[in-house]
Amino acid sequence: MIDIRSDTVTKPTPAMRAFMANADVGDDVYREDPMVRALEEETAALLGKEAALYVPSGTMSNQIGVWVNTREGDEVICERDCHIYNYEAGAPALLSRVLMKTLQGARGVISAAQVEEAVNPSNIHAAATTLVCLENTHNKAGGTIYPREEMERISDLCKRADMRLHLDGARLWNASAATGIPERDYAELADTVSVCFSKGLGAPVGSALCGSQEVIERARRKRKILGGGMRQAGIIAAGALYALRNHRTRLVEDHANARRLAEAVNELPGIKVDLEGVHTNIVMIEITGNATAQQVSTMMKEEGVLINAMRPKVLRAVTHLDVSSGDVEKAIEAFARISRKIRS
Ligand SMILES: Cc1ncc(COP(=O)(O)O)c(C=O)c1O
Repeated sequence: MIDIRSDTVTKPTPAMRAFMANADVGDDVYREDPMVRALEEETAALLGKEAALYVPSGTMSNQIGVWVNTREGDEVICERDCHIYNYEAGAPALLSRVLMKTLQGARGVISAAQVEEAVNPSNIHAAATTLVCLENTHNKAGGTIYPREEMERISDLCKRADMRLHLDGARLWNASAATGIPERDYAELADTVSVCFSKGLGAPVGSALCGSQEVIERARRKRKILGGGMRQAGIIAAGALYALRNHRTRLVEDHANARRLAEAVNELPGIKVDLEGVHTNIVMIEITGNATAQQVSTMMKEEGVLINAMRPKVLRAVTHLDVSSGDVEKAIEAFARISRKIRS
């Protein structure tokens, strides 16, 4: 099976497994796990932040990020299709007890002007707007890259208006690989940054929240509250460390594969791709022919390709380190056969 449902499906490589098997471990709640410490230090250094905290998932990382940056009853501004609001099980309401104000972005990007207009006035009637969350790259918009200049304008606005900025950088590695802008140049614009090791980088488990020493100390306590204080976590942190050291530069291969897939299927009758929206390793594939995305997903499975339907007429394909250029050619051939059945 060729699996292009998500970049979360990757399995540890033999070299990564060997590194994990030999990992020196300790009790990380006592802060005695050398692998976790190395991972946190290297991640923080790469992002130009004082500290990082290893957590089990991107969801936990984001939600601790929201939690440490807000107080109960505050309002958080985010883009309508962002992960934090849509796919984290309502956690901002449950954990941080904040209101979310969603703004319609263009390919996942909200502007500083939109944010400025959405900030509540500071009077007793309104919730205090204290946090803005951005996502780079933006998953549901199709792996789109946030222009750094727009992020900078939002970051400046946050400073002026005494608001914090959290960056969901689950795929920040992809943005940096595609643009050549180092991760730290994006990260410097945000107070807290969440990065994932278990997406394009191919580690089996984990994410990190990065920020100032003070914020990360508070985050450590929140992680404990959530049951995310792990013991000999070095076994899994080693996979993340291996991925961080070895798998960032190869992301451009995934991007080239995604572009090839996008351009080829866009030529097929009954199928359309917004090529300008393909920036990294995600391709949103619209079915203009006579079938739903779910039906096409089922037909693709029969062809040996796993792909998810994201909207009634839109599929999402994600390339990653377990998808070769040959696999992409096979997926294109499968789409071509299906195209002949669904063209209207
Ligand atoms: C943009 C983004 N943020 C956060 C997450 C959450 O990560 P996790 O599945 O590790 O909780 C995802 C997951 O796909 C994501 O795409």
